[in-house]
Amino acid sequence: MSESDFTPRDSFGSRFGIIAAAAGSAVGLGNIWRFPYVVGENGGGAFLLVYLIFIIAIGLPVMLSEFTIGRKAQRNAIGSFRKLSPGTPWYFVGMMGVAAAFLILSFYSAVAGWTLEYVFKSVTNAFAGTDETGLNLMFGTFIAGTWRPLFWQLIFMVLTAWIVAAGIKKGIEKYTKVLMPVLVLMIIILCIRSVTLPGAGEGLAFLFRPDFSALSADAFLSALGQAFFSLSLGMGTLITYGSYIGKKENLPGTVVQVSAADTIIALMAGIAIFPAVFAFGIDPGEGPGLVFITLPNIFLQMPGGYYFALIFFVLLAIAALTSSISVLEVVVAYFVEELRLTRKMATVFAAVMITVLGVFCTLSFGIMSDVSIFGMDFFNLMEFTASDLLLPLGGFFIVMFVGWYLGSASSRKEISNEGAYKLAYFPIFMFLVRFVAPVAIALVFIYGLGLLRL
Ligand code: TRP
Repeated sequence: MSESDFTPRDSFGSRFGIIAAAAGSAVGLGNIWRFPYVVGENGGGAFLLVYLIFIIAIGLPVMLSEFTIGRKAQRNAIGSFRKLSPGTPWYFVGMMGVAAAFLILSFYSAVAGWTLEYVFKSVTNAFAGTDETGLNLMFGTFIAGTWRPLFWQLIFMVLTAWIVAAGIKKGIEKYTKVLMPVLVLMIIILCIRSVTLPGAGEGLAFLFRPDFSALSADAFLSALGQAFFSLSLGMGTLITYGSYIGKKENLPGTVVQVSAADTIIALMAGIAIFPAVFAFGIDPGEGPGLVFITLPNIFLQMPGGYYFALIFFVLLAIAALTSSISVLEVVVAYFVEELRLTRKMATVFAAVMITVLGVFCTLSFGIMSDVSIFGMDFFNLMEFTASDLLLPLGGFFIVMFVGWYLGSASSRKEISNEGAYKLAYFPIFMFLVRFVAPVAIALVFIYGLGLLRL
């Protein structure tokens, strides 16, 4: 038995705290920045339907698998595999997760930094008196700069590290319990404003009326990728958070609530954005610039736009922060438990290394835009390696581990709290983790590498 078996481990203090932290991880730039433009690019309602099916058939089983591994082992992402499968190479899955955490946070903090700049721009009323061209130029000039985007990225990383350094109960749980309700309130306000705009119906129809002719083979794969990223799956974030969940908590219930919260907030982001996009005659397939260029343009033309812009960008920054802490925690938990660093040291160490990588991501929009590695700039290299390679691989091995290595009896014991719950649907879960999820993930992975063209 190792020494850490005797040191009391930090954990979440309440049921609401677990939901706030896990939903805080899931709800992020993926929901509010990425989801609307991906839906826009893939034609709307039909894509949404596919996305929802993937969330239920693949997202839920993968999430429950991660929580099961973490809570059973009571360890970080790497330590969990070491403990549950000693002497086997399964811990490589955890190592991939920790590596992915470095890469994800390096580009995530770059975009998160932009959201802080846009909070600042909203406060100082910088959008007033410009138009679409001006806003395009404003965004382009800002991200191509050096010190300004780096400054905001650094501020964002300091905020992230500050919360993580304070621990689980006194850091992550304490802040997400306050920030998540604020986020929900803000998005409700934006939804109400948007659906009461004249012409809102067209935007809602785009989002909710499936037009299957707009659905390509590509869309299926984008939908699965989006589901993974949005639910924070595949890199051990939820293994790590699962290890802080008490043995009496209801894991399947938590999974359903967190996934529902993530999906509802993504839908609300869609409801807030598409009616406004249509009301102002903007192309919904605009791409990644949708929230930084299109939305300020919409706010400009809207009564009370100053306040709605401010609310929107604060919302985006909060969503990014409650996600980034969950990514940093994966690395910090590993450093603390396996390298025996103090939490403060581990946090500083991890945050500094990630920030250094992050500098290259930020600069790849500016002075380093000519630097290309494997044909990609640094930002795209990080995003591609993490999201398209490490996450699907991680997700694949996580469900295989639960489905085939832990197996039915052992998983059932953990998920049912040693038999306290009956779990009538358990065979369905086993079928999903053994067959449906691995096959679907493998298809996306192979497609993502360009080995298969549908
Ligand atoms: N889910 C978050 C979002 O939607 C991002 C995120 C946090 C994430 N932790 C993760 C993505 C782990 C993949 C893996 O923005």
